[in-house]
Amino acid sequence: MSQPNTLLRAAVVGLGIGRFHVEAYAANPHVELAALCDANPERLGSFLRQYPSAKGYAELGEMLSRETLDLVSICTPDWMHADMGIAALQAGAHVVSTKPLTTTIDDARRFVAAAEASGRYLMAAHERRFHPRYRAMRRVLDEGLLGQLFYVELDYFTHKGRQFHNTPWYKSAEHPRAAILGTGAHAVDLMRWFGGEVEEAWGTANHIAWPDFPDDDCMVGVFKLAGGAIGKVTQTYASIRGAGEPDLRVTLHGTKGSIEDEKLFSLDWFGGVPAMEVAGRKPWREVPPVQQDRVSHHAQIDHFVSCLVEGRPPQPDGREGARTVAACLAAVDAARTGQPVRPASF
Ligand SMILES: NC(=O)c1ccc[n+]([C@@H]2O[C@H](COP(=O)([O-])OP(=O)(O)OC[C@H]3O[C@@H](n4cnc5c(N)ncnc54)[C@H](O)[C@@H]3O)[C@@H](O)[C@H]2O)c1
Repeated sequence: MSQPNTLLRAAVVGLGIGRFHVEAYAANPHVELAALCDANPERLGSFLRQYPSAKGYAELGEMLSRETLDLVSICTPDWMHADMGIAALQAGAHVVSTKPLTTTIDDARRFVAAAEASGRYLMAAHERRFHPRYRAMRRVLDEGLLGQLFYVELDYFTHKGRQFHNTPWYKSAEHPRAAILGTGAHAVDLMRWFGGEVEEAWGTANHIAWPDFPDDDCMVGVFKLAGGAIGKVTQTYASIRGAGEPDLRVTLHGTKGSIEDEKLFSLDWFGGVPAMEVAGRKPWREVPPVQQDRVSHHAQIDHFVSCLVEGRPPQPDGREGARTVAACLAAVDAARTGQPVRPASF
């Protein structure tokens, strides 16, 4: 691809998972990786050695006051996203924020309002929507092979031992985050993407396996979705054998077929034969794979940049990210109160 005349000046704040954003900007012909920001000097230093033309900053405010930036990736701990993202929007940059967009409804409202007031785009980095596994499932739904969905289940069985050890803020008592919001935001977002908007949530949770984790570490959310389907998301943080492939299990049932992880079954293959003749009798086929040479994190940044170059809004946008936060928090409230909860609307 030839080099465009004007490069978009990009910065990344937070260089953990943010390294994927750095790599994607550095490889994008429309972008100049202008600045990197991290409060950890060793981490920042190692990135600056790898990307010597980028300027380094320990503090976001200083970076925003010194640099003119077109886009900023916010990849810091969850509770920082809103304040940092708003500062970047107000400095004139388009913003992409890692998931969950925020940890509270108030922050989500402030973040979305700041984006709309600024006239800049806000994208929620739900990278699973750019992952070939889930894109392949979405394509099956778009092609109508499952008919109308009536059940959408995502079970995310993880073991967080390594992550809690390497990145202690994930279990910080100062900023607790329920499992279904922290990691579960991926599954809840995919449930919404596959099955539609959440109208009501129920939940139940326990706190058995990680006594020093400051919130519930095992949770089930049950959701009434706008099209009538029932959604169910389970998030565990201490499944000893959970962290295998796939650690996020997907079951979709519709009026014409089903998906179970990589397996697909559709009545459409049998040319009008009644369902009772084929149900349970014919073999599954593989969900037709989507070919993609970019990892999901890179693909989402490529999408963000293309949207800015072409002047169209990136998806999922800030409101989408906020709806996923609202759905997660509705399940958390429901588990605490024992009552069904309607999510905040965005
Ligand atoms: N698949 C995914 O989409 C995915 C995976 C992992 C993490 N995440 C999300 O990405 C975010 C970051 O998670 P992580 O695992 O990379 O955490 P991390 O702790 O490894 O990285 C965060 C970085 O932010 C820096 N930082 C903290 N406070 C700062 C400040 N005030 N100013 C500048 N830098 C600061 C830290 O020094 C650290 O290097 C979280 O929101 C997390 O939920 C998303």
